This record gives sequence, C-alpha cells and structure tokens, in this order.
Amino acid sequence: MPAQILDGKKLSNEIKEGLKAEVEALKAKGVVPTIGMLLVGDDEASALYVGLKAKAATAIGGEGKTFKLPEDVTFEEIMELIDKLNNDPSIHGILVQLPLPKHLHDKEKAILDAIIPEKDVDGFHPTSIGNLVIGDDGFVGCTAFACMKLLELTGQDLKGKHAVVVGHSIEVGKPVSMLLFAKGCVVTIVHPDDPKLTEYTKQGDILILEMAKPKFVTGDMVKPGAIVIDTGSNWVDGKQVGDADKESVEQVAGWLSPSPGGVGPMIIAMLMYNLVKAAQQQSA
Ligand code: GUN
Repeated sequence: MPAQILDGKKLSNEIKEGLKAEVEALKAKGVVPTIGMLLVGDDEASALYVGLKAKAATAIGGEGKTFKLPEDVTFEEIMELIDKLNNDPSIHGILVQLPLPKHLHDKEKAILDAIIPEKDVDGFHPTSIGNLVIGDDGFVGCTAFACMKLLELTGQDLKGKHAVVVGHSIEVGKPVSMLLFAKGCVVTIVHPDDPKLTEYTKQGDILILEMAKPKFVTGDMVKPGAIVIDTGSNWVDGKQVGDADKESVEQVAGWLSPSPGGVGPMIIAMLMYNLVKAAQQQSA
C-alpha cells in the first residue's frame, strides 16, 4: 500500500485558522500581534518569502512590518534597527530574513544574537536553542516545529521509535533531534555524506531528511512502513524537488511528508504560532 501523504498545506491552514481566535482575544486587549522583518538587499526569493510571511500575519489578524534595507547597509545600521525594534512594545516578533548579502556573512551570528530572546520568533537565538535542549518553554525553530507537527498527524506514539535525522543544521537537524529525543525516541544524527548512510536510513522508524541533495533517498534506503519527513527544497530544471525520490519512497514508507507540499507550507504557520505566543507573553 502506498504511503499516506502528510498534507502540510491543509494542516497549515488549520493551524492559521485556529490562531485567528487567539489573535481576536489579544486584539480585545488592544494588542495586535506584529512581526518586524528585516529584508536586506535584492534577493528575489527572500522578498517573496517575506511577502508571504507578511500576508500570513495579516490573514490571522495581525500585522507584518517589512523593513527593507539596501544591499550595502552597514552592520551598525542593522544593529541600530534591531535595537529599536527590541525596544518597541508594538513589535512582538523580529526576524532577519536569510541569507544576508555577502559582506555581512561573518556578522550573521552577531546580528541574529542581537534580537532579544522574547522576540526571537525564528528560534535561532542561543537562548532559544538552550531552552530547547534544557526542555524549557521557548521558541522552537519553525522548520523543526513543522516536522514535529507533521509527525503528530500520523497519530503514532513516538516513544521508543528509532528516529534517524540526516542533517545537522541549527535550523533543522539539531533542534528536531532534541525534540524527538524529548518525545522518547532513540535518535541517530547522520551527516548527509556519511559512507554508511543507507545502513542508518534503513533503520529509521522515523526518517527526517535535511540533505540539500535532490531525490537522493530512494525507496530501497527506507525501512518499510517508516514515517519520512522530507525538509529538502532543491530546484532542478526550474522544478522544486525534495531530498527523497517521492515515487519510490512512497511505495515503501508508511507515511510521507513530501516536498513540495509538506514542511514548506507549515513553516510560515509555525512562525505565526510563535508570533502569537510572543504577543501573548509580552502582554500577559
Ligand atoms: N531564509 C530561509 N528560511 C528562513 C527562515 O526560516 N528564517 C529566516 N529568517 N530566513 C530564512
């Protein structure tokens, strides 16, 4: 039987719909959940994503404010703006859209760390990552959070399952590994280039892919009945494909969150979740 498809678009719409009531309650107290987004330079994809995030904020009843900065903006100017937004009570969440222009690459960490943890809706601040490791309540990075929500859709008890995470970024692999561990999974984190990759992937009751390798994981690399979450987003001949070869993987897996259509649409929904949480915490 082919895998059940975990529909990220449908789930993201349900989550955003659910947030509307919470935003209404905030608005009754005079609070409009507002995200301030720094968009630096002329990267077309970044402009598109920031536009979608602003639209989602409006759709749930909140607001998205975009601060468009020129390509040659200085580090000091960015830090000044972040400081201003940190201290602006009408802004509840702050996001710096990545990637930054080349001349700011070595400043990226300092820029992201300048956002106060209370407004870190992207979940990239060391305090947010630390809270996640400790198991304290904080902001969970949107992609890792999306993976967990899609896993919930399967209705499966995660306790005792072997989760194999291929990839180790601070945005996906590392946080999702900690979240799975907290759910009682046995977690293996593998580098995408590991020579024994298939040996590991075949053991995964849960397989999380963050590889940046188009259609790399094929059905014969997957344990029959596994839950496969594909966070890959690769462009091949103008077409978006994941890290999994959907056609062969869906013949073997029990569930598949495909790319596109799985994690992608969920990321903005989880950002909106974090924004509403930030606004609730700041107005409590
Ligand atoms: N660029 C690509 N994905 C993301 C994301 O999740 N957050 C930010 N800030 N920039 C990104």
